[in-house]
Amino acid sequence: MSHIHPTLRRDGDQVIILDQTRLPHEEHYLRLDSLDDAATAIRDMQVRGAPLIGAAAAFGVALALRHDPSDTMLRQADCTLRQTRPTAVNLHWALDRMLATLAPLPTVVRSRAAWTEAEAIRCADLAANAAIGEHGLGLLRQLALSTQGPLQIMTHCNAGWLATCGHGTALAPIYAAHAAGLDVHVWVSETRPRNQGLLTAWELSRSGVPHTLVADNAAGWLMASGRVDCLIVGADRIAANGDTANKVGTYLKALAARAHGLPFYVAAPRSTIDPACPDGAAIPIEERDADEVRLLTGLAADGSLTRMRLAAAASAVCNPAFDVTPAGLLTGIICESGVLVPDALASLAVS
Ligand code: MRU
Repeated sequence: MSHIHPTLRRDGDQVIILDQTRLPHEEHYLRLDSLDDAATAIRDMQVRGAPLIGAAAAFGVALALRHDPSDTMLRQADCTLRQTRPTAVNLHWALDRMLATLAPLPTVVRSRAAWTEAEAIRCADLAANAAIGEHGLGLLRQLALSTQGPLQIMTHCNAGWLATCGHGTALAPIYAAHAAGLDVHVWVSETRPRNQGLLTAWELSRSGVPHTLVADNAAGWLMASGRVDCLIVGADRIAANGDTANKVGTYLKALAARAHGLPFYVAAPRSTIDPACPDGAAIPIEERDADEVRLLTGLAADGSLTRMRLAAAASAVCNPAFDVTPAGLLTGIICESGVLVPDALASLAVS
């Protein structure tokens, strides 16, 4: 789709990313030049979203090996990047793949091979997004047969083109439906405290898809009052039994969806499935800084980006960035292989 601006791309021996900490107010691109730049971009959430984090880590390895392709540097890059964020398994998946490809190679060819492999990871995600869009479109077409007016889809967090290398995961079926002429409307929840929903609203605006931003707390009432037909969310890690970690607040939406008999889909590439993780209890959940809850970032009256205090500095805060939705609450998982019922996960070879 022409409205997509790549959020991450190679430029010579550097990498360009869209700085997501400045959205939706400023569209600003950053140039990554080193391993440290890549690690900082992931840690500080300049790049975010599980698939994009994975690709950024792969390119981080390529940046690290540019001037020093030694075993020591390969190990250091792997270790530094692995520690940036804990929950999204795509980060580990991409680093495992880089290590498996690069470690056996003679150092003289490693740098070039690192760029090639990182680009392959980026392209694989792009293709997975397209396939997710097609499989999800089939589901949305079915649902639209029994609705009047626009098909009302609710999402949470950002799982669109900002969070991936292509059209997105949860948003890919929505973009495919919109492009196919299906009448769709998207309920976008703010996703406190980091407000990834504002990014979703921004990118849906850019893409011309009808949508409405709502406070997170409005979701249950919208479902109860018949204004939601289905929900699609992304994922940061899917355990072998289908339990799914996604942005905090997903679990509450899944509970409300079950209470109101609404289909609740997770959309994610297979690189988000972690066969080594038996169930949700084994998924590491990132706890983030308390000031993300106490402070707000937005535009000041003079148009400058500013942080302002919302809660007293003394207020105790707990800030889990993700939660786990039990597999039993999912209607299905839309991946590049098709729509899986959570029970079918075990049979998938994740490569
Ligand atoms: O902003 P992040 O990196 O903390 O959030 C991750 C996400 O974008 C999501 O959890 C998303 O729903 C799944 S990844 C497309």
